[in-house]
Amino acid sequence: MTITESIRQKALTAILFASSIRRSDPQVGVSTTYWDNSTRNDFEHLVNHLGKTDLPERRKIRELLKWRNAQSVLDAGCGSATEYASYQKDPILKKIKYTGLDLSSKMLAIAQERFPGLNLTRGELKTIPFPDKSFDAVVLRHVLEHQPDGYVDVVKESVRVAKKCVIIDFFHAPMPFIPEIVHLNDKKGFANNWYNREAFQDFLDTLLIKGWFVTKCSGSAKQEAVIYTLLI
Ligand SMILES: C[S@@+](CC[C@H](N)C(=O)[O-])C[C@H]1O[C@@H](n2cnc3c(N)ncnc32)[C@H](O)[C@@H]1O
Repeated sequence: MTITESIRQKALTAILFASSIRRSDPQVGVSTTYWDNSTRNDFEHLVNHLGKTDLPERRKIRELLKWRNAQSVLDAGCGSATEYASYQKDPILKKIKYTGLDLSSKMLAIAQERFPGLNLTRGELKTIPFPDKSFDAVVLRHVLEHQPDGYVDVVKESVRVAKKCVIIDFFHAPMPFIPEIVHLNDKKGFANNWYNREAFQDFLDTLLIKGWFVTKCSGSAKQEAVIYTLLI
């Protein structure tokens, strides 16, 4: 990446940060059940927004899964199961054993309608209802920002149930020079937190894993998306 491109990406992330603050209201309560409570228009907008398979982030996740030779995946916070749709575009990943997990029955109903018979479970990511090492890979895409009390429990649970890797795709790239967690309550009722990069990486270093690395690509709002791969 050229220096100019890198500056442009950083500027876009800063603009996104400012717009998250503008859209927040500290008086609004936030909850992970937002996805079940949102109004019809909001919900349809979100489902459409999440429905695109051909994004650089989704392509990168496909590459990482193939690189780890993952035969099974838990799509943690699967929403409408667009990750599954994304894997169907690839001759190898097409055969991956997919499980979707989400708290929202509304999202799961849409996923089931799109893909009848798909393996879907309703549950909370802080207490994943599967035994240790159940899946080669766990994918957390655009999920950690929405945890009202931060990322720690969800990442630990994901590591527990993974055999080969956990792939964390942040919509909001963790940023330097901000507090450990910037708790933002989006006025619509979901947590839209921003996390400090060094604190997040220090946390990864405390986990009993073989290591981790970062991949960057263009995000769905044209900002720099950051994908952490945790090697188990
Ligand atoms: C922004 S959507 C992302 C959906 C999907 N990962 C994608 O990229 O298309 C976030 C999803 O995570 C789910 N979610 C958020 N926090 C959760 C939690 N603590 N337990 C279970 N599901 C959760 C929501 O219900 C919602 O469907």
